[in-house]
Amino acid sequence: MANHDTGRPSRRRILKGLAAGTAIAGFVPTRFAIGQPAKVRVGLMLPYTGTYAALGKNIDDAFRLAITEKGGKLGGRDIEYVVLDDEAEPAKGADNANKLVTRDKVDFLVGTVHSGVQMAMVKVATDNNTMLLIPNAGAQAATGPLCAPNIFRASFSNWQPGFAMGKVAAEQGKKRGVVISWDYAAGTESTDAFKEGFTKGGGKIEKELFLPFPEVEFQKLLTQIAEIKPDLGYAFYAGDGAAKFVKDYAAAGLKDKIELVGPGFLTDGTLQAQGDSAQGMQTTLHYADGLDNAKDKAFRAAFRQATGREADVYAVQGYDTAQLLLAGMSGVKGDTCARKELIGAMEKAEIDSPRGKFTLSKAHNPVQDIYLRKVSGTQNRYVSVAVKALADPATGCKMA
Ligand code: BEZ
Repeated sequence: MANHDTGRPSRRRILKGLAAGTAIAGFVPTRFAIGQPAKVRVGLMLPYTGTYAALGKNIDDAFRLAITEKGGKLGGRDIEYVVLDDEAEPAKGADNANKLVTRDKVDFLVGTVHSGVQMAMVKVATDNNTMLLIPNAGAQAATGPLCAPNIFRASFSNWQPGFAMGKVAAEQGKKRGVVISWDYAAGTESTDAFKEGFTKGGGKIEKELFLPFPEVEFQKLLTQIAEIKPDLGYAFYAGDGAAKFVKDYAAAGLKDKIELVGPGFLTDGTLQAQGDSAQGMQTTLHYADGLDNAKDKAFRAAFRQATGREADVYAVQGYDTAQLLLAGMSGVKGDTCARKELIGAMEKAEIDSPRGKFTLSKAHNPVQDIYLRKVSGTQNRYVSVAVKALADPATGCKMA
């Protein structure tokens, strides 16, 4: 059943709140301040298992860190998290998102990592008019033809890092390329974007090689690359798949013969596992090690302190998703019924991100610098700004 979520509490939830001795006033604490306002329900739909598990965990931890740093509340209201493992499984995406929206009645749907799962979440959020905040997945349609006032992204579009890497590779004099990826939206959009930047600069793509997600038997593809002998390979993989691909590429003897580049997901959060096989690799992304800004230094220290792990791009995106939500909820003092004002506050927000400050485009996607990075030890070291303030073209978005 469609749930036209206006942000108001259901009768069932008010009764539940009364029974628990809380939430007497419903969801509009500024207007009906009788007792404690109800908690804001935040649904975290992320991959906590599978190839993208580490990505989901870093997003979750950094999201909560940002909120804890601001007193643990959203617009003055306590938070209840509802957590769901989407397993990076597109076939379960609609059911999972519907559980959070219809059964759990979340006020905000936050997720996810995998572009295919994201498309299901976009549909559920659109059908139910639920606020959706995307902390990773770059699926272009979310801020393109399917853009909507209630859909926001705090990460990137698949086009942004891909296009930048294509431009850089052409500027560095590479002429013949191959692209390699998983055959789903992120892989095809990222490699298409690389192709666009590369061919605009005079390069040519000799071959496009794909495997179904999340397969990691790369040998056949590596043999084909060795036969083609291009100037470079551009690969989109992330998480455990990226770690294995980069190691297999080196083990096949290709590393010193055919330069391997990619969007930064190829080496972000994976360098411990990749070791020598990744040294010297160039990638492009909206984050890098060594950005040397105060926000990044403080964030990295806080994330390390909270989790015992080093931050990566996924942690940054989780943190910024929460910062965007905090900006919206403080703009309406926690009143989720003030939907127009909530959206307005999020649209106007300037996010003080560890990646550098950014704002959102009319399509609700970050307008941001894309950095060229180079692997050194266990770091993706900042080299230069590959493209300044890059906005996704948002093709097909009626709001843009
Ligand atoms: C995606 O599916 O959009 C994606 C997954 C991992 C890293 C980057 C993008």
